[in-house]
Amino acid sequence: MPTAGWADLYAWQVDRRSATPLFQQIYLQIRSAIASRTLAPGLRLPSTRGLASRLQVARASVISAYEQLLAEGYIVGRARSGTFISSDLPASEPQVPRQKIAARATCPSVSVRFDAFEHVRAFLAEADAVPFNMGRTRVDERTAETWRKLTTQAVRLLNPIHLGYSDPRGLPQLREQLCEYLRAARAVHCDPDQIIVTTGTQSAIDLVIRTLLDRNAEVWVEDPCYPVTYQALETAGVTIRHVPVDAHGLDVSAGIRSAPRARVAFVTASHQFPLGVALTMPRRLELLAWARDTGVWIVEDDYASEFRYAGRPLASLQGLDDAERTIYVGTLNKALFPGLRLGYMVVPRSLCRAFVGARYLIDRQPSSLEQTVVAEFMRHGHFAAHLRRTRLQYRSQRDALVTELTRRAGEHVMVDAPDQGMHLIAYLRHRRSDTAIEAAARRHGIAVRAIHPMYKKARPRSGLMLGFSGFSCEAIVAAARRFAQLFAEAHA
Ligand SMILES: Cc1ncc(COP(=O)(O)O)c(C=O)c1O
Repeated sequence: MPTAGWADLYAWQVDRRSATPLFQQIYLQIRSAIASRTLAPGLRLPSTRGLASRLQVARASVISAYEQLLAEGYIVGRARSGTFISSDLPASEPQVPRQKIAARATCPSVSVRFDAFEHVRAFLAEADAVPFNMGRTRVDERTAETWRKLTTQAVRLLNPIHLGYSDPRGLPQLREQLCEYLRAARAVHCDPDQIIVTTGTQSAIDLVIRTLLDRNAEVWVEDPCYPVTYQALETAGVTIRHVPVDAHGLDVSAGIRSAPRARVAFVTASHQFPLGVALTMPRRLELLAWARDTGVWIVEDDYASEFRYAGRPLASLQGLDDAERTIYVGTLNKALFPGLRLGYMVVPRSLCRAFVGARYLIDRQPSSLEQTVVAEFMRHGHFAAHLRRTRLQYRSQRDALVTELTRRAGEHVMVDAPDQGMHLIAYLRHRRSDTAIEAAARRHGIAVRAIHPMYKKARPRSGLMLGFSGFSCEAIVAAARRFAQLFAEAHA
């Protein structure tokens, strides 16, 4: 049986001034650690010689304690392996009282906001490999093999940069690669010094909140919006102004009319979340002009721009911004895989020091080993090749989903085939409730997401988001059939 060695790390101690004999103190201590499950069943205990030497007591005291525990069934001896905590002990004793104490304890009111978010998280169940779950990616064998090779290389090297503290902005070699990529692919204006490597979009949003937003500061949020950014802002206690989105993207004039003095505007300009529309050029210019004139900051969440399937790639909003009012936020968790937890932001020069300071105070730096692997992956051209292959793959998956949904459920849904991104929206016909279909689908092992709850003030549409990036064409076709069946059953 594997034994992690935790009992060796336990803070064993004896009190020499106590009237309780030493052997009994040792016995009581071990018994209490076992009964409370502080030390788990199956763990190996230190040898009698080792424990005696740590406690500076005679070995006989430890042997007596172990003998009593053996006799009572708390521990077992195995020839030539040592002494172990019994694996067949009854359930731990103090668990019930502990839960009661936890339930009774009063939580600070601020924690309640995060409690509420628990529900959203459970609902998302992002980790499930259930068809149409969003945010899943596919890593083909070529990328997987290269990744293994580069990881092994980095681990073999284990040079000081991997073992010690490093630049809180991220490794210079990764920032250089990201800078070249962003200039070429997204027309972003940047120097490596302006890039901060994050763990993904969520950490970038958190940095923006901490660095730029006092409590009650006004922010623009798209309506409908990305629920996770919305929740992060809401829990931060800022004042959210909902700005409607139409076929041209964010309605900038409406935003200026309702909240002209907002501090930050959060936009998904290239591919609005969830609707998928792109912010048109006149709207982009209007937004940038307003930011330049009023000093507002724009946060551009460019979360899925790597995957464009038709038409010219849209340049970033940041690339049009001559006044340096835009904070560009990108993620590798979509371009590669969500388990990576790496992303980046490009910060206007005037904000760099503040953002780096905040980054340092929150979690110091991202893992250097992972950053090295990504930097090498990019430097050798694997990232560009991975994107080229993945784009083709996702396009076929999108096509398979559009075709199958239209064929099987076209009477019930109007499918909006996106030119970009990793999900599509099936708008529901006949005034059907998207939340009801979402719940029914989940019962049938299908994860679609209703867009209705993502609207705050704007008039909601009824539609379902279906992620196509994480599933093979065969899996998509099979699941689309099952999904279409739901409508047929509802009619029967
Ligand atoms: C609008 C939007 N931004 C960003 C992300 C990616 O976030 P992260 O990098 O934190 O995984 C997502 C993921 O679904 C998203 O929908």
